[in-house]
Amino acid sequence: MNREQLLAAVKEQITKHRYEHTLGVMETASRLAVKYGVNVKQAETAAILHDYCKFWPEDKMREIIERTPAIPKDLLEHDKELWHAHVGAEVVRRDLGIQDNEILDAIRYHTSGRENMAPLEKVVCLADYIEPGRHFPGVEELRELAEEDMDHALARAFGNTIIFLVNREKKVYPLTVFARNSLVKPKKKKNVQEE
Ligand SMILES: [Fe+2]
Ligand SMILES: [Fe+2]
Repeated sequence: MNREQLLAAVKEQITKHRYEHTLGVMETASRLAVKYGVNVKQAETAAILHDYCKFWPEDKMREIIERTPAIPKDLLEHDKELWHAHVGAEVVRRDLGIQDNEILDAIRYHTSGRENMAPLEKVVCLADYIEPGRHFPGVEELRELAEEDMDHALARAFGNTIIFLVNREKKVYPLTVFARNSLVKPKKKKNVQEE
């Protein structure tokens, strides 16, 4: 499928507002891909399809999670926000014939992240956080950081997500903690004598 066909397919699945978001993620992911030496076509395809199942009914998503061996079942005990990513990867493979596992992983982990993410996964995940339609406190700093250091920006984005969930007394999906830990760089120790 070419870009226009993919966009037409996703447009049928999501709201107008989410489609605008998808276009923003596509443009941002393409730009970040060029900047960080990631395959632009893969980044664009994953970005177009990343929220394919965002508005699927809960029972339909639950059914796919239950009967797909590759989808971790512990998702069912966590926030439903995480479901559409794993279900989306499975559905675009099945219904749209997307066979590229790197693209499917970028869709699968765009919400939770995971330990040692591939550069393509990072690009899509970060683009999802900072596309031009996103408005939340700190998004400008995140956009600036994304231009300098993708890992640092993503570590901060996952940190924000974890803080958000903890403040609302919600569970944190373990992969998000693993993702952040694998991206955080140790801070240089201060020389005590200088203090
Ligand atoms: Fe999403
Ligand atoms: Fe998204």
